[in-house]
Amino acid sequence: ELSPIDKAKFVAAKRAADFVEDGMRVGLGTGSTAAWLVRCLGEMVRDEGLKFKGVPTSTRTAELAREVGIEVISLDEAKWLDLTIDGADEFDGDLNLIKGGGAALLQEKIVATASDQMVVIADVGKEVETLGAFPLPVEVIPFGWQTTHALIEETLISMDVLGRSATLRMNGDRPAITDEGNHILDLHLQRIGNPRQLALVMNQIPGVVENGLFIDICDTVVIGYGDGKVEVRD
Ligand code: A5P
Repeated sequence: ELSPIDKAKFVAAKRAADFVEDGMRVGLGTGSTAAWLVRCLGEMVRDEGLKFKGVPTSTRTAELAREVGIEVISLDEAKWLDLTIDGADEFDGDLNLIKGGGAALLQEKIVATASDQMVVIADVGKEVETLGAFPLPVEVIPFGWQTTHALIEETLISMDVLGRSATLRMNGDRPAITDEGNHILDLHLQRIGNPRQLALVMNQIPGVVENGLFIDICDTVVIGYGDGKVEVRD
């Protein structure tokens, strides 16, 4: 028996799996909801003969995809994707997102942007009126990260956000390292008044590689509920 939250993630993933058709090139997201999707797609490959190629957004997803029998190719091999299906940490009424809770935001954003369509799968708890309660992940290169950190905090003072602090994401007693060998700073903002502007300004700071705000990238959100209900919003 699944817990209500896992049930919600599962039903959203299962519905979104139906978006995948024979011959497609599909971006595969990262996180617990995306893992349900990858397992569903693996079953469809095995039991229904579904034929598609998957482009994973992390080493974790690549491993799982191969394990369940999905044909995995790189983004450069695919060049362009029909569809990406991924989870999110928050989504708002404009279908803008915060992503990167699983530290895979850089590959996720590159893959989603290279896709004709991005479908997000999420349990209803991820829906927010205003983005920002979930700390915003920002990927920074290790060189001089403390300087980058200081610059980010300074920049936040002039922005339409409530909180101003950024913390280095840890993995035990060491800084967490992303698939690209970078660090993650989590920005505790509480409320992001102008996500579009913040996303642009963050990426102007030297040392910042990418931020977890996905603006105008997501086309559809498939929302799962604990009782098994699914809602599709686009
Ligand atoms: C990974 O970097 C994130 O963008 C994930 O998509 C996000 O953290 C969602 O994860 P869950 O599906 O586990 O909530």
